[in-house]
Amino acid sequence: MKVSAPGKLMLFGEHAVVYGHPCIVTAVNSRLTVSVEKSNTVEFHTPGTNNHEFLQEAVRYATERWNISSVTIDVSSSFTGKYGFGSSAAVTVATMKAITDLFSIPLSRHELFQHCYQIVLNVQKIGSGFDLAASLFGGTIYYEQFGKIIEPVEHPGYELVIGYTGEKANTVSIVEEIAQKKEQYPEKVERIFSAITDLVHNARKKIEEGDVERVGKLMDYNQEYLRDLGVSSEKLEALIQAAKKTGALGAKLSGAGRGDCMIALVSKEKRRQVEQAIVNAGGEVLSVSPDAEGVL
Ligand code: PMV
Repeated sequence: MKVSAPGKLMLFGEHAVVYGHPCIVTAVNSRLTVSVEKSNTVEFHTPGTNNHEFLQEAVRYATERWNISSVTIDVSSSFTGKYGFGSSAAVTVATMKAITDLFSIPLSRHELFQHCYQIVLNVQKIGSGFDLAASLFGGTIYYEQFGKIIEPVEHPGYELVIGYTGEKANTVSIVEEIAQKKEQYPEKVERIFSAITDLVHNARKKIEEGDVERVGKLMDYNQEYLRDLGVSSEKLEALIQAAKKTGALGAKLSGAGRGDCMIALVSKEKRRQVEQAIVNAGGEVLSVSPDAEGVL
């Protein structure tokens, strides 16, 4: 049984989503493939992933829950954990889909989501689950309340440039830091999260309408709030400013912050210029596109 799952990029709403607020996320066309076969012993062949904990927990969870026999698992991937495309979510989703298909366990995508979310929480304790939703459902998604609401965002298309900072973001420690900040300055952080929530609702509408000018502006506002939260970095700012100066409609960090990638919304005409500006500012442009298919 061979299954592949896409990575993701956060478009709007990171950090606030950890507290049940909404976000918008898109699946990207970098995929991770998992092959599973029945066997007498549990065996992993995993050159395609660094996310061994997630893989092992998924297998432990599935074998225990459905009382299934042992499996041999092979993982290959067109991306690693390097860029922050959600390889841990993709490996969890692909493994669970492959195992449940192989043993003919009938599950809806929403049910699969709940199992995958439990696995992720067993491993890393925190996380909103948005990345699992993108990997399972694909496309561009409105996500809220830890997966209670997962809805497709239909749209006429948009162009993104993705700039990698070369710095690794430590998602878990940044999320913990924001939790501390929220304890210390509850009003300030709540105010930011509530402003981000309004912005996400607005962004969903404007993405659906194809109003890219407005979507770009909203990305800029989202970036201001993330800066206020303290999760931007010099390198992210350099790439974001370079993109903005050369005509991007909007630009922001994507994910936990302090590293990984920034995204810029561009017109087709400006794409090359913006890409070049990001390279000149010391970034690496990644050729991935949004709106990829979910797990297959
Ligand atoms: O760092 P990434 O790309 O895994 O994104 C993290 C997004 C957060 O909202 C900060 C955390 C989460 O689990 O939603």
